[in-house]
Amino acid sequence: MQKILFVCLGNICRSPMAHGVFRDIAEKRSLDVEIDSAGTSAHHSGEAPDPRATETLAQKNIDISDLRARPFTPDDFDEFDHIFVMDDSNFDDVTALARSTADRDKVKLFLNEAYPEENRNVPDPYYGGISGFENVYEMVISASTRLAEKLK
Ligand code: 4NP
Repeated sequence: MQKILFVCLGNICRSPMAHGVFRDIAEKRSLDVEIDSAGTSAHHSGEAPDPRATETLAQKNIDISDLRARPFTPDDFDEFDHIFVMDDSNFDDVTALARSTADRDKVKLFLNEAYPEENRNVPDPYYGGISGFENVYEMVISASTRLAEKLK
């Protein structure tokens, strides 16, 4: 069993989309994984995903309406084997809470799964239009597919 956590800033756009897309793939492939997501900010704690995120994934037959935002905490380093962050700022915020090199080594940029060592970011779609969410979907589906192959 591998425990995987996806992290962005608000936990209402990018990380719940990664959570939902990877959960869908994991269910279809019967992967032995546990999946969660969190935000480096507690600002949207308790909220459902942004309607634009929910709608973008509903069009792909992926339902994320059950997800609720929560803040990342240092306990997550104990709970999870892999912590996938969406951008460099998430990376800095999460690694700043690491208590050891073991904690620090769990934190990776999610798109490095699809584009190793390129350190690409999943851009924050919050202040843009719906096309930004489609863009996030394309990015998280490619990284999720590669991650699923690796965990098989
Ligand atoms: P996320 O997007 O980090 O992908 O969930 C954001 C959501 C909310 C805010 C920023 C980014 N905000 O500033 O409220």
